[in-house]
Amino acid sequence: MSKVYVFDHPLIQHKVALMRDKATTVKEFRELAEEVAMLMGFEATRNLPMEEVEIETPICTTKVNMLKGEDIAIVPILRAGLGFVDGMLALIPNAKVGHVGLYRDPETHEPVEYYCKLPTDIEKRQIFVVDPMLATGGSAVAAIDFIKKRGGKDITFMCLIAAPEGIETLEKAHPDVDIFIAAKDEKLNENAYIVPGLGDAGDRLYGTR
Ligand code: PRP
Ligand code: URA
Repeated sequence: MSKVYVFDHPLIQHKVALMRDKATTVKEFRELAEEVAMLMGFEATRNLPMEEVEIETPICTTKVNMLKGEDIAIVPILRAGLGFVDGMLALIPNAKVGHVGLYRDPETHEPVEYYCKLPTDIEKRQIFVVDPMLATGGSAVAAIDFIKKRGGKDITFMCLIAAPEGIETLEKAHPDVDIFIAAKDEKLNENAYIVPGLGDAGDRLYGTR
């Protein structure tokens, strides 16, 4: 079964609280998304493989631990997932970035695919799928389906706010995928928006409403 990690770090909680506030501007929201991605990414990358390497300091030769290879891919679910990319790249600047484009049909709330471009060697990479919101879970499940169909195997999902329904759906569909969440909310409303949530993450990031 998936491991689900809900962050209780004060800095993350504080920043997510600011993002929820409807008075937070688009500029502030975008900056906060980047900061939270970095803080979450720090923990989500805890188990990256290391290797012992010999280097020379100005004093002597020594063995140090360094990241083994650079085989990481960050895959944002468009559009709102883009808000997490710069924060993750600040931590792992050599990661490759794939994109999965999905939007929720406003009537059915089902995900509709419009784009998918992944690194060609995706099967070799440790993959971090990022999207601020896990509501019904439909978008995350569909994005991970696409990635697996193209060979992706080692997948972690990171989001800002999740509804219990979305976590359950994602765990059932992809039990091999660990889930990192900054905050777990109460429920979905009749329009499948997370309550209390933060509204429409894409609109808040890009000022489109
Ligand atoms: C939002 C969000 C997720 C999805 C979550 O995207 O960024 O991708 O909804 O909902 P779900 O768990 O019920 O599928 P949206 O479809 O609004 O597209 P956008 O990012 O382009 O605004
Ligand atoms: N997508 C969002 O952007 N917000 C929600 O609350 C649910 C889905």
